[in-house]
Amino acid sequence: LKPVSIAILGPGTVGSEVVRLLTAQAEDLAARVGAPLEIAGIYVRDTSKDRGPNIPRALLTDDASALVAKADVVVELMGGIEPARTLILEAIASGASVVTANKALLAQHGPELYEAADAANVDLYFEAAVAGAIPLVRPVRESLAGDHISRILGIVNGTTNYILDEMTMRGLDYDVALKQAQELGYAEADPTADVEGHDAAAKAAILASLAFHQRVAMDDVYCEGISAVTSEDVIAARETDQVIKLLAIAERTADGVAVRVHPALVPMTHPLAGVHGAFNAVFVEAESAGGLMFYGQGAGGTPTASAVLGDLVSVARHKASGGKGPHESNYAEHEVLPIEAA
Ligand code: NAP
Ligand code: HSE
Repeated sequence: LKPVSIAILGPGTVGSEVVRLLTAQAEDLAARVGAPLEIAGIYVRDTSKDRGPNIPRALLTDDASALVAKADVVVELMGGIEPARTLILEAIASGASVVTANKALLAQHGPELYEAADAANVDLYFEAAVAGAIPLVRPVRESLAGDHISRILGIVNGTTNYILDEMTMRGLDYDVALKQAQELGYAEADPTADVEGHDAAAKAAILASLAFHQRVAMDDVYCEGISAVTSEDVIAARETDQVIKLLAIAERTADGVAVRVHPALVPMTHPLAGVHGAFNAVFVEAESAGGLMFYGQGAGGTPTASAVLGDLVSVARHKASGGKGPHESNYAEHEVLPIEAA
């Protein structure tokens, strides 16, 4: 069988785990796809830097465009806007399918990327972009496509949940908890995105776009992070049997759609109060399905790699046997309703 060739862009916290699992589970993955998955190369800026035992030096390249041009599937795990955007567009133009975990890019340039993928008839999958290991994008994008989602509410950022949880349960200082979250591989390269709520806002924008079939951009999301939350706030919340959680809320209203991210007081008795560490939990309310709850590890290299590999198997199956996933650019044809801030 002809192998499906994979380009990995960015062997960092998530990328290095994807490479490790691709190698360790090669036989199982080949059986599931119907063809072997072969790593064509791994793009890095500096090929001389040692990247640990999981990353074979022989596969490293600093020529991203040449690597992308020879791949059937490009897995973008660098983060940031550029060069990720340009390389994904190059991949699509050359007929490759794309898997990415890059919520910042999708929230800013999603329409351009979805339209390019649909025009080229290739897949663009991004389960890992929202809520780490938790299957959430696919349920909202595909499983609930025949329903009417009215509301999505939950914890979608692992770093801030970890920080607030450590402050609440162990009395840790904000800065100490943030440092730990960085060491554990939960935080973004620039953790400002986590603590100021931008990462959660990007995820909320992606979920709202999928759930409500209209474009919701980062600028449409009211966003307030946790950097102003103090130990005194956390203690005061506990004294009234509450905890502070950073919530993302996207809902249909009488006037349109409202999407917001902000810290909120949650009663101890509420299921969200029991979401500890870097776990995420998301409630989805739909007309026919009723209430659904999604819960699991929201950040970290290995859990996130699980979501990336799931996407990789799906798009590689399509490459091996023909077919394509959802057509996202149809959203561009929908009328965009007014968006309320908060
Ligand atoms: P990371 O540890 O910082 O790794 C990023 C990798 O990309 C590094 O290997 C880095 O290379 C490389 N890179 C960055 N910019 C590059 C550039 N301009 N050119 C070439 N290589 C570049 O990040 P991560 O935590 O794995 O996150 C990767 C992506 O997954 C991001 O989009 C993030 O939002 C998303 N994500 C992360 C998690 C998580 O828990 N960590 C969960 C879900 C989604 P150097 O080593 O040379 O800097
Ligand atoms: N920095 C992100 C978080 C990674 O803490 O949730 C997962 O998207």
